[in-house]
Amino acid sequence: MPTAVRSHAKINLGLHIGAPRADGFHALVTVYQTLELFDLVTVSARPAAKTALRLTSNDGRVPTDGRNTAWKMVELALRILGKTAEVEIHIEKRLPVQGGLGAGSANAVAALVGLEFELGNADPSASLRSAQDDGFTSGARRLEVAAQVGSDVPLFLIGGTVLGLDRGQEVYPLPDIEPTWCVVATPAVGVSTPQAFRDWDALCAQEGLTQDASHGKLSELSRAYASAFAGGFPRGEQGAGSSGVLPYGENLAGPQVSALVRTGISSWIQNDFERVVFVQHPSLAEIKRILAAPGTPAAALHASLSGSGSALYGLYLTRGDALAACERLRLSGVVCQLTRTLPRPAYWSEMLEEEGH
Ligand code: C5P
Repeated sequence: MPTAVRSHAKINLGLHIGAPRADGFHALVTVYQTLELFDLVTVSARPAAKTALRLTSNDGRVPTDGRNTAWKMVELALRILGKTAEVEIHIEKRLPVQGGLGAGSANAVAALVGLEFELGNADPSASLRSAQDDGFTSGARRLEVAAQVGSDVPLFLIGGTVLGLDRGQEVYPLPDIEPTWCVVATPAVGVSTPQAFRDWDALCAQEGLTQDASHGKLSELSRAYASAFAGGFPRGEQGAGSSGVLPYGENLAGPQVSALVRTGISSWIQNDFERVVFVQHPSLAEIKRILAAPGTPAAALHASLSGSGSALYGLYLTRGDALAACERLRLSGVVCQLTRTLPRPAYWSEMLEEEGH
């Protein structure tokens, strides 16, 4: 029986990017948040004399060869495990391709989970979490393998609310925010992540942002996020650093997510990609305004581009506010989906579908 695995989307609650590094990557500070929306990844695998992978999808834009992150993950995992198998992966796409929702990266983790489930029943050593390891090394090894496949793959081995550092692959679980209504707008525009990084580099050069200066700012931000999500500062107290640019107050993870607004956190949670992507695609800035609806009773708690886009999201206090945002988008001809943020326990308990599809 094939194993069907939910492959959930993520958004970025803030994404702060540093100056370009010598290795071609960028240091960043972000908070990833998984959503209820998902692709369905179905895996069937059986031991064989030689590894043979086959990948199919209901969406013609999904690569069905070694360029696919799910393919890369399965191939790498089998190689590390020293196993050979015939593996079939089917990706039922529901999330946008290249949308800033981490869909491809989530597909990779779902494929790994499916592979381990398929092979692991008969052969406990056919898992990166094999019995030969203690929990410490096996967990670390899975994260390391995921990081080799892509910078925002490891977050999907944690789920819920996750702090992302370094190039995004260094991940730490944060206390989950309360499940929060979320509207995800998926404009027809495509944004290339490497191109968005190149545009960011041009901006850094123009503004003279150096490695040293951005390192200091990112360190300050990572401390600010850790504090805000873990318990925070009393209302009105100054932020983490001496610059005073990060005013924030009480616990973001408290019972009211409206703390996003009440404490002013939403004023410093920003996505740096907006500075370059909105210049290239002004229509996306307009969609953010529609999601945010500032000054209205149904205003978003926070609205932003996700990753490098082109998906944008708004977080809302009530379902009614979220539905009102959907209606505003519909009137503007923008496709959107209503969903909720998905905390870590539900992320894991809902990952495996009851029956193979
Ligand atoms: O790690 P991943 O394969 O997702 O990265 C794709 C590309 O995005 C990299 O080759 C790099 O150009 C860019 N990138 C970056 N800094 C990061 C993550 C990705 O410059 N932190």
